[in-house]
Amino acid sequence: MTYVINEACIDIKDGACVDVCPVDCIYEGGRMFYIQPDECINCAICESVCPVDAIWHADELPGVSNEFTRINAEFFGDSVTGWGQPGGLALEYHTALDHPDVQDWPVNAPSGD
Ligand code: F3S
Repeated sequence: MTYVINEACIDIKDGACVDVCPVDCIYEGGRMFYIQPDECINCAICESVCPVDAIWHADELPGVSNEFTRINAEFFGDSVTGWGQPGGLALEYHTALDHPDVQDWPVNAPSGD
């Protein structure tokens, strides 16, 4: 199992999770960040720092977020980036691409409250 980033990250991209991940398994797409499920070591540190609660254990994702286990995994597949298991965040692993389901997601504006 793995931790998963859900729709709350879309258009927010705070980035705090990237700074604390001990294995650098969180990668940047165009509208959100994605966790490489085979590289995640389930440490849960990222979950504790996200200001919008976008990170969940795959077994605990609420509602529509269930789709994001698949979406995070498919981001690394041939249909999106083709990165597979990059082995740790590096400069060449940034992209403006997103999973097709995320490309079509409504704009996620901060509530402001
Ligand atoms: Fe996104 Fe939260 Fe990380 S908004 S970039 S999952 S800290």
